[in-house]
Amino acid sequence: VKIYIPRDAAAIALGAEKVAAAMAEAIAVRGLDAMIVRNGSRGMHWLEPLVEVETAEGRVAYGPVKARDVASLLDAGFTSGGAHPLCLGKTEELPFLRNQTRLTFARCGVIDPLSLDDYRAHGGLRGLKKAVSLAPAAIVAEVTESGLRGRGGAGFPTGIKWKTVLETQGSQKYIVCNADEGDSGTFADRMIMEGDPFVLIEGMAIAGIATGATKGYVYTRSEYPHAIAAVSAAIEVARAAGVLGSSVLGSAHAFDMEVRTGAGAYVCGEETSLLNSLEGKRGLVRAKPPLPAHKGLFDRPTVINNVISLASVPVILDKGAAYYRDFGMGRSRGTIPIQIAGNVKHAGLYETAFGLTLGQIVDEIGGGTASGRPVKAVQVGGPLGAYFPRALFDTPFDYEAFAAKDGLIGHAGIVVFDDTADMLKQARFAMEFCAIESCGKCTPCRIGSTRGVEVADKIAAGIEPEKNRELLADLCNTMKFGSLCALGGFTPYPVVSAMTHFPEDFSPAPVAEAAE
Ligand code: NAI
Ligand code: SF4
Repeated sequence: VKIYIPRDAAAIALGAEKVAAAMAEAIAVRGLDAMIVRNGSRGMHWLEPLVEVETAEGRVAYGPVKARDVASLLDAGFTSGGAHPLCLGKTEELPFLRNQTRLTFARCGVIDPLSLDDYRAHGGLRGLKKAVSLAPAAIVAEVTESGLRGRGGAGFPTGIKWKTVLETQGSQKYIVCNADEGDSGTFADRMIMEGDPFVLIEGMAIAGIATGATKGYVYTRSEYPHAIAAVSAAIEVARAAGVLGSSVLGSAHAFDMEVRTGAGAYVCGEETSLLNSLEGKRGLVRAKPPLPAHKGLFDRPTVINNVISLASVPVILDKGAAYYRDFGMGRSRGTIPIQIAGNVKHAGLYETAFGLTLGQIVDEIGGGTASGRPVKAVQVGGPLGAYFPRALFDTPFDYEAFAAKDGLIGHAGIVVFDDTADMLKQARFAMEFCAIESCGKCTPCRIGSTRGVEVADKIAAGIEPEKNRELLADLCNTMKFGSLCALGGFTPYPVVSAMTHFPEDFSPAPVAEAAE
């Protein structure tokens, strides 16, 4: 019998290693005919470590399991799906999973991440097989028609980016995977790298064949040791099996790749700064143009895509552009892995077609706050995303709908706050974050963020609040339109949205002595 215990970093943080060790020992002591598979996470973080057992009727889930529960689980006949207070029933029937549309994350938590046989048995490599039979322009056309847009946050059409690289001459071209996942409350890149690394490798190989690039780099951060280990090991397996190398799946195409680790600067997730870091230079933002598609890594034509964009390509090639395009709304096609975090009951990853409202995601799927208090605000799109109040909960999860409400969906992370949150403090935090993470290249961001912290402090102290609120709004305007990259340019989103939707937090009672 197969017992699945996740090796995902979130599960490990919650004790999965201890559970696996206790389980291995108990199996040996009891002489059971059982095998432990270290899978990825199913994305239900409040149930981690989620232990599953394969039965004739399908996989049965138990969670959250602690090492001390192992003996009672085995006593209860858990290896054949026996009843136990921690038994959750069949995994696939858990409401959080059952209602998802898992295209990109179809195998995450299901397979053994490093077994290529398991990957193949669950539909893996079919997209790449199709790709090697097509002309590069036909692959690009398929990705364009699917409507896939950059899942890192900017939402630029992936097919158009690939077309630019395909049509740009270069003796060497590169595929760079931006796995420098730095947004607060996001973990989709990490989860798929740990839970299904072959899908990223397959997506990158397809991108290489489509654009004429023979070398790929996964740029990730040192804070992701488990993802680094999983992708590196999967690359070795793929190379040994002829999925990567001088003849991809026996074709005339060559493609190979490696993992590179950054030191964890937020700005290195910005694509040009990432390229500098990858070249061994300081992570300073480059001016665009030239676009990386024309002059990227080592000045060569380069595709830079987020992990999720690349990991969504295999299913598009396998099932066709129309299949993928059929999901979603408006110009947001396909599915999006929404990462639900913060003060929320059911935190985790929820892959679904675009179009659910923010209220459905927070109240129904997330189950409201973990504290049980009313939701006050939800920050969507990372530390540079806007705060949405309950009044905007009817906004559908869609690039354009969020932009129309002065927000962004970004990398699709949402962080929930209850009514104890102080939005002035959150606005100050945004400025402080920007001041710490700024690369320093341009003035509005480098100096503006520090001035922003000071102005927020003055408002908090009740010093000339009206004048300082105006100053803060003016500063945000300068940063938004005067900054070179998204770090300085998007910091105003959390600040302005906090001021707009929660003005009461920006009018603290004046402190008489503080007024100069
Ligand atoms: P951008 O709009 O400047 O560019 C989007 C992408 O399209 C880039 O890769 C750019 O090189 C490419 N591009 C534009 N025109 C092209 C053309 N004609 N041909 C080929 N490629 C072309 O946006 P940027 O600055 O890259 O990203 C900003 C976004 O990043 C924000 O919306 C934010 O949501 C997101 N973000 C994500 C984070 C994360 O951790 N995933 C962290 C911080 C911000
Ligand atoms: Fe650097 Fe900030 Fe300017 Fe971006 S906006 S280039 S991070 S100083």
